[in-house]
Amino acid sequence: MAILPILEVPDPRLRRVATPVEAMTDALGALIADMFETMYAAPGIGLAAPQVDRPIRLLVMDLMDGPPNGEGRATRNPRVFINPEILERSAELSVYNEGCLSVPDQYAEVERPARVRARWRDEHWTLHEAELDGLLATCLQHELDHLNGVLFIDRLSRLKREMVLKRLQKQRQEAARRAAA
Ligand code: NI
Repeated sequence: MAILPILEVPDPRLRRVATPVEAMTDALGALIADMFETMYAAPGIGLAAPQVDRPIRLLVMDLMDGPPNGEGRATRNPRVFINPEILERSAELSVYNEGCLSVPDQYAEVERPARVRARWRDEHWTLHEAELDGLLATCLQHELDHLNGVLFIDRLSRLKREMVLKRLQKQRQEAARRAAA
């Protein structure tokens, strides 16, 4: 397993539309394992293949909502979505303070449909269809956007987007200054 480099804005590779996955292969299994390792190390709760420079319709997620362990703590619950599609969106919206490993350390409130009906394949190539809500629905929509070359900052007003990008630039300059000192 390996931790993969994560592409960050304004890398144009984040803007490609990803292509469907044709079949489950050993190479795809290895990529999925690497994506989980990369996501847990970041740390993050979701990662789409285009973020690690693989423009295919694959994303991984872990909301740490597995069955609680003996101490009642959250546990890992890895989820794999291959060729995910949203079939229906609720009219009702919900707001979540989103972040993204490709826009490091920046957060902003994004409004999205509160519930979605989705279809996807898992790592065993089993087809699933389900109605998702809460953080799972928000996270799936955020990650699925990555497969279409869309970032959460694109869903902000122009003013808010510019603020986020300015903050990111400032943070990078400070990091560069610290590294040079
Ligand atoms: Ni993201």
